[in-house]
Parts: sequence; structure tokens; C-alpha cells
Amino acid sequence: MWNTQDWHAVQAHARRCRARSIEDIVMAEPGRAQAFSRRLGPLYFNFARQHIDAEAMADLQRRLEDSGIRGQARAMFDGHRINASEDRAVLHTALRSNLGTTPEAHQAHRDAMAALDQLEGVVGRLRTKGITDVISVGIGGSDLGPRLVLNALSEYAQGGFNVHFLSSADGMYLDRFTAALDPSKTAVLLVSKSFNTQETLINGAVLKNWLDDPSRVFAITANRDRALAFNVRHDNILPIWDWVGGRFSVWSAVAFSVVLGLGMPAFREFLGGAADMDAHFLQAPVEDNAVMWQALLSVWNRNALDYNTQAIIPYDERLEMLPSHLQQVLMESLGKSVTVDGEDCTQATSPVLMGASGNPSQHSFFQYLQQGIGIVPIDFIGVVKSGHCQPANHHFILANLLAQAQSLANGQGSADPQKRYPGNRPSSVILLDELTPRALGMLLALYEHSVFVQSKIWGINAFDQWGVELGKQIATSLMPYVEGREKADDALDPVTRELLARMLTP
Ligand code: F6P
Repeated sequence: MWNTQDWHAVQAHARRCRARSIEDIVMAEPGRAQAFSRRLGPLYFNFARQHIDAEAMADLQRRLEDSGIRGQARAMFDGHRINASEDRAVLHTALRSNLGTTPEAHQAHRDAMAALDQLEGVVGRLRTKGITDVISVGIGGSDLGPRLVLNALSEYAQGGFNVHFLSSADGMYLDRFTAALDPSKTAVLLVSKSFNTQETLINGAVLKNWLDDPSRVFAITANRDRALAFNVRHDNILPIWDWVGGRFSVWSAVAFSVVLGLGMPAFREFLGGAADMDAHFLQAPVEDNAVMWQALLSVWNRNALDYNTQAIIPYDERLEMLPSHLQQVLMESLGKSVTVDGEDCTQATSPVLMGASGNPSQHSFFQYLQQGIGIVPIDFIGVVKSGHCQPANHHFILANLLAQAQSLANGQGSADPQKRYPGNRPSSVILLDELTPRALGMLLALYEHSVFVQSKIWGINAFDQWGVELGKQIATSLMPYVEGREKADDALDPVTRELLARMLTP
């Protein structure tokens, strides 16, 4: 965790940098466009349009190194119980690389590889059963990551199954799926680490009855007993472990749906990309470490420049789901206001993360990004080689990415205040040579590790999520009232009681 001296230094740098515009800083530092860029395999990063000068960046990097980040990363990869409030190890890295140095970490990796083999066997079995469609039922981390990967990589689809995702408990989706699909040719995957998530259990119960064939109901869970109690057959249960956080679980059998859609070779490539990023994060010097650049700049924007929102804007429709996935990775991990030791945080932590695919967003919320009062630092993500056969469209997309990043940073003066572009709005650009499984794996792992580094700077636990529990408990306690089995009385919160009355007698 960074100390008072570190934060004073950050503020001193901020005063200096704020006195100059981004454009001035870029012009004053010869070669900055290259010096603030890094290449890592199929990924290229350009941080030159962040509102920070080279002196500040170098100092932040030194401070990060001195703060013990290497030892903290090592502790994670080695399976130490760094998720203190849940007393758990954090070993999602073991799902894709074997860079731990302890028996626990190696064991976790062996278990993960065995589970992948088991998954491959189960997919083979499904193939012989005449199944055409699969519904993957899960929510949060048991949904967003797989949904993103399958959407993004559909050009690589070799799996042979049509995959559908069911997340919300809103019964509308159940009605649509059960009307459109043939139950005799459909399998259902119940994806829930805890096997205690009400949305998944409610949807799962309906689909289980609709299928009326337990051999086509599968569970991916760390809670085998609950899955068995739900009447899932023991050889239809695939494991995950308490050392995989839900939002970091796309590398496990939680991505069963991805394997069904894409096939195992593409999924293994995806894991390989994340493994490359794991090695880079652990081994690259801080000044060449893309994860550390990314994390430091996020902290800089939050704490030095006081920006409370960040945006992820992919200029590729295949990455449309990326902002949603990263919202959970970032905000569920860093949306904390007490440190690991239970003290109030002295610095602001997670920004609000927003985002959507770039080209359509230009015609909706980019007005705010260009001229609104609040400044929103952006990660633009582009793909150099398109996944389609329309070169004119692709050139248009790339030109627009370039234009937005440039205009946000440099702005444009005008005698008419309505037509003035203030500029000075920071962004980074991440370019993927091509949207391959490997490049996507690297990109997602980059953000995961960036979140880890940010949490260490702030001294918070990135791996618990107590904030989601209270609402779940209250919803459970309100069910008898909503169902009309119990009458509201004075014990209920008065506003809830009024709303309940409107729901029951509209
Ligand atoms: O309620 C939040 C949460 O626990 C997320 O952290 C998690 O990804 C999601 O619910 C789903 O949990 P599970 O996989 O246990 O159903």
C-alpha cells in the first residue's frame, strides 16, 4: 500500500502536469509517441496521450517497484491466502500458466489441467447425443466472460453447437428460449461457483423440468454437494475451486459454453495468451511492463487528476461485451472503501467504468466525452486486421478511432463557445494485430493484473465482494411479501412497504 510520502509525491507531480496541456506535454517531450508505447506480442500499447509527463511516470514506476509489488504478485501466483476476508488463495493464474513456485500452486495447476481434460471428454460425449443447442445459465462472472469470448471469437467457431446465454431471472428469456428450442436436442449448463445464486437456480429449475432428461443437465461448480442435491448427475459435474474468483473464472470450466462454441484448440490458445501475459507481468521490468503502465495510469487518473469515471471503448463490434465484463472485473474488485486491515481508505479507489463499442457511441454519448464538464479517460481498443471482407468499412473505423483520440487530447479553439473543443482529455490506445484467441487472452489477463496492481497500491482486497450480499439477503426476506404469503406490517421499512403495496395492487 502506498504511503503518505508516495501520495505527496503524486500530488506534486500532478500540480506540475496540470499546469500544461496534454498536447504541450507531447510536443515538449521529443520521441514521446514512441517512448510512451510498448509492444507485447500481438498487442501494441500507446500511452502518449495520458496527462502525465515523463518525469512523473518514471517516479511512479520507481515507487511501484519500491512498494513491494513483485513480492505481492509472487504471493498471488504462489497461492498465499491473499483474499484475507474470505481466507482464500487467489490462483486463477494456475488455470492457464504454471508460474507458481509452491506445491499448492503446482497442485492447483494440475487440477486445472485435469479439469480441462475432463471437459474435453464431456464435450465429446455431448457430441454423440444429437445435441444442437446449449443454454449456459449463470450470472456475473459465470456469464459475462464466456459471453464476451464467444461473441468476440465467433469467426473461430469450430465447436459445432449453438450456444445461448441465460443470466437474468427475468422470465421473458425463459419463455423465448423454451419457445424457440427443441428440448430433446438441447443441453443445459448450470454455471455457478457457489451453486447458491438464486437467479441461476430459479432459471435452472425451470429448464431442468423443461428438458426432462437429467443426462443433459450439467453443473460447473465448486459446490458439488449442492449440485448433487439439485439432481445433477455426479459425472455431469465439472469442478472449479474456491481459489478462483467468479470474475476471474473465464479460464476454467465456467467457459464450457466457449469450448462448445469454439472448440478446445481455440480455447487452449486463449489460455496461452493469458499465460503470456502472466509471464510478462511477473518478469518484465516495471518500465516495460504493460500491466504496470496500465495500472499506474489508472491510479494517476483517479488520484492525481481526480477523474471518477473511466471508459473502455473498443472500435470493433466483436468486443462489444468487453466493457460489461471489465465493469465486473474492475468495479467488483476495486469498489471498496476500507483497506485490507479495515481502515478507511485515504485515497479514492475504483472509478465508475463505462463503455460501449466506439463507432455507435460516437453518435450517442461522445458529445459528453468531448465537451461535457467531467473528464473521462478512455482506453481505446482497435484491431488492425479486421475480421471481415469490407476494407472500406474497416478503414473508416480505424480513422474514427484515430480522430477521436486526437480530438479529445488536442481539442480545437473557436470564437463560438458552443463550437469550442476543450481538449486535454486523456486516452490510451491498445491495438491488437488481429482479434485472435491468443490476443484476447492477453488483453483480458492484462486488465485482471492491472486491477491486482491497483488494489495493492490502495491496500484493498480485490478478491472479495461483500457489498453484493445485503441486497440478496433483503430480497430473500421480502419474497413472502411479494408472493402474498405474508402481510406487510410495521416491521417493514415504510418506503418498501409503500412500494410493495403499489406492486400488489397497482
Ligand atoms: O453476487 C456477485 C457474485 O457472487 C459474483 O461475484 C459472481 O461472479 C456471481 O455472483 C455469480 O456467482 P456464482 O458463480 O456463485 O453463481
